[in-house]
Amino acid sequence: MGDNLMQYQFPDDFWWGSASSAPQTEGESLGGAKSPTVWDHWFALQPGRFFQQVGPQDTSTFYRHWREDIALLKQTGHNSFRTSISWARLIPDGRGDANPQAAAFYNQVIDELLAQGITPFINLFHFDMPMAMQALGGWENRQVVDAYADYAAVCFELFGDRVRHWFTFNEPIVPVEGGYLYDFHYPNVVDFKRAATVAYHTMLAHASAVRHFRKSGQGGEIGIILNLTPSYPRSQHPADLAAANHADLLFNRSFLDPALRGHYPEELIALLKRYGQLPASQPGDDELLSGGIVDLLGINYYQPRRVQCRINQVNPDSPFMPEWLFDHYQMPGRKMNPWRGWEIYERGVYDILTNLRDNYHNPRCYISENGMGVEDELRFLRNGSIEDDYRIDFVREHLIWVHRALAEGSRCLGYHIWTFIDNWSWTNAYKNRYGLVQLDLATQRRTVKKSGRWFADAARNHGFDE
Ligand code: NOJ
Repeated sequence: MGDNLMQYQFPDDFWWGSASSAPQTEGESLGGAKSPTVWDHWFALQPGRFFQQVGPQDTSTFYRHWREDIALLKQTGHNSFRTSISWARLIPDGRGDANPQAAAFYNQVIDELLAQGITPFINLFHFDMPMAMQALGGWENRQVVDAYADYAAVCFELFGDRVRHWFTFNEPIVPVEGGYLYDFHYPNVVDFKRAATVAYHTMLAHASAVRHFRKSGQGGEIGIILNLTPSYPRSQHPADLAAANHADLLFNRSFLDPALRGHYPEELIALLKRYGQLPASQPGDDELLSGGIVDLLGINYYQPRRVQCRINQVNPDSPFMPEWLFDHYQMPGRKMNPWRGWEIYERGVYDILTNLRDNYHNPRCYISENGMGVEDELRFLRNGSIEDDYRIDFVREHLIWVHRALAEGSRCLGYHIWTFIDNWSWTNAYKNRYGLVQLDLATQRRTVKKSGRWFADAARNHGFDE
């Protein structure tokens, strides 16, 4: 630790690290006895939907480069690191016993992380439904909920003696929005009622995994990772306030409330009922959900949601969509990520943390993702390394707001950047690069970016000066 206090000093045990996921980094997407996920399947069907037709097999190949990558994690100051286990790799049929080859791979990774003094944070599902499970209807089928819970139990059994921080899901709303509302994930359905069922069953799966975890007696803690988008109304007019509240209910509280309070908001249930969109439930569901309260909340934050009331009438004969309830708008004069078209609003992270403190009993939480995607980043290559001052500014400004929330009593325990190394991103492939480390896909060469060096210093000093 540095001898002098930094201007922005964080607690000594603050988690500094990064997040990644199995499907975006492991590679060997059909090797290593892994079975196809929805991504492998969709890419085979429609490669044209993927940027430059680069599919999930083209990654930094963590499956083979894990030792080198863990050394780089160490070099870039990580004291903790999140990745996920691939269900389709560990249990290729989705149900049954673990594949010993896959178990050995994850054991090696966990052991090496621990040997390097890096705490593993392990997530069980990162958008990567095994195709064998999707063939049964994916999250629409309750048998898949049970299969997922069994898979979770296998993970606790195999790795729970060493993993102390577990997560059931990463951004569970994204497969709902992508796969069942807005057509950017497989199975490309556009149907609100089916989306609501998928969301509901995902939370049943979460609560079932939590139940198994508690029963396992392995110790440690279990959480969920949610992408929270604070919804800011355009004005204080009641119609804009109602629109922002609806966006908050649908896109934040639909997962946040069950995860932190063990039940859905009454207002959300009433809203879905009003539009005939409430998913079917079964006796025992409420009790199951009430046991799903987490020990630790991961918060992914990238951008806020700017909301106003609907300006144009919706056609009441068209199928219900969230857009019936609110409109988005762009606030003029705001800082934008020019490459992603996303607003950069650093204070959003503080608003999330203070909302949790004031309205959700100040849960143990941490920033589980935050980061900057940059298109065509090789433009910023100088003397062999990427000079990404924009990323350093982005991270520093967000951390300053985290620091303030901490000073005001938030129980935010750490900050993980998305991400460690440039990775494959869903249909965008390598369009936007996010890493602290640059990846040359063709040669698999890794080069630490300027932000990686900055991050290492901040982590080692437990903070930074302006
Ligand atoms: C959220 C997701 O967890 C991750 O998979 C994705 O690549 C990043 N955000 C960047 O968009």
